[in-house]
Amino acid sequence: MTERGPFRLDGRVAAVTGGGSGIGRAIVLRLARQGALVAVLDQDAAAGNGAAEEAARLGGTAEAFTCDVSRAAEVDGAFANVAERFGRLDILVNCAGIGQVATIAGTSEADLDRLYAVNVKGTFLCTRAALPRLIAGGGGVVLNLSSIAALIGVAERFGYSVTKGAVLALTKSVAIDFLSQNVRCNCICPARVHTPFVDKFVRENYPGREDEVKASLAAYQPVGRMAEPEEVADLAVYLCSDEAAFITGQAVPFDGGVLLV
Ligand SMILES: NC(=O)c1ccc[n+]([C@@H]2O[C@H](COP(=O)([O-])OP(=O)(O)OC[C@H]3O[C@@H](n4cnc5c(N)ncnc54)[C@H](O)[C@@H]3O)[C@@H](O)[C@H]2O)c1
Repeated sequence: MTERGPFRLDGRVAAVTGGGSGIGRAIVLRLARQGALVAVLDQDAAAGNGAAEEAARLGGTAEAFTCDVSRAAEVDGAFANVAERFGRLDILVNCAGIGQVATIAGTSEADLDRLYAVNVKGTFLCTRAALPRLIAGGGGVVLNLSSIAALIGVAERFGYSVTKGAVLALTKSVAIDFLSQNVRCNCICPARVHTPFVDKFVRENYPGREDEVKASLAAYQPVGRMAEPEEVADLAVYLCSDEAAFITGQAVPFDGGVLLV
C-alpha cells in the first residue's frame, strides 16, 4: 500500500476565488501541492495566470479563469468553463474580497454597495454556482474567508465588518442546508495577515506613515506579528481535507491571540 500522508487531495478539483494574490494565492499553491487540480478565479487575469503558473512550476496543476465574482453571468460562465476543463468540482474556496477603512460616518452608500457586491454577493454567487457540482460528485467542501471583524469590534472597519459578518451567517446557513448532501461549509476568521491587501490599504490610508502603521498592525496581535498567507493556507488545506470531515458550520479563528484579550 502506498502511504501518501494526511491532508492529501489527489484528484480533487478545487476552485479558489481571489486566487491571484495574498491568501488566495497561497491557498492555490498549497492545494496544488496536496494533489488538487486548481481553478484560479480572479478578476485580475495577470495575477490569476501568475498563480497558476507558479503552481505548475512547483509541480502542481492549476489553470486561471478570469472572473468578477460580483457578476452572476461571469461567475456562471467561469464555473461552466471549470467543469468543462476539469470535469468535476470538489472544493470551493471563496477568498476574493475587498476592504475599506472607515466608521459608519465615513461610509457612503456606494462604499457599502461595493463591499457587499464582492464580499457577500460574490460569495453567494460562487457558492450557488458550485453547489450542484459538488453534490453531483457526492459532496464536497465550501470554505469562506470571513474575518475576526465578524467576531469582535475592529475600529474603523464598519462596512468590511458588516460584510464579513454576513459571510459568517452565510456559512452557517449553507452548512445546515446541505449537510445531508455531504457538503461541509466553514469559514476562517483571520486577524491581520501580511498580504498586498494590507500593503494597499496602509499606502492609501496612511501615506507617509506606512512603517509606523505596519508596526502597530503587527503589535495588534498578542503574538506580536502579522500572520503569513501560507499559515492561513495550511489551515485551509486541513479544512478542505477528509481529516476535517467532522467539522462543518464553524467560524474558525486564526487570530494570533487577539480573541484572548
Ligand atoms: N489580509 C488580511 O489581513 C485579512 C484578514 C482577514 C480576512 N481577510 C480576507 O481574506 C481574503 C483575501 O485577502 P488578501 O489579503 O489575500 O487580499 P488580496 O487583495 O491580496 O487578494 C484579493 C484577490 O481578490 C481578487 N478580487 C478582488 N475583487 C474581486 C472580484 N470582484 N472578483 C474576482 N476577484 C477579485 C483580487 O484581484 C486579488 O487577487 C479577503 O476576503 C479578505 O477580506 C484578509
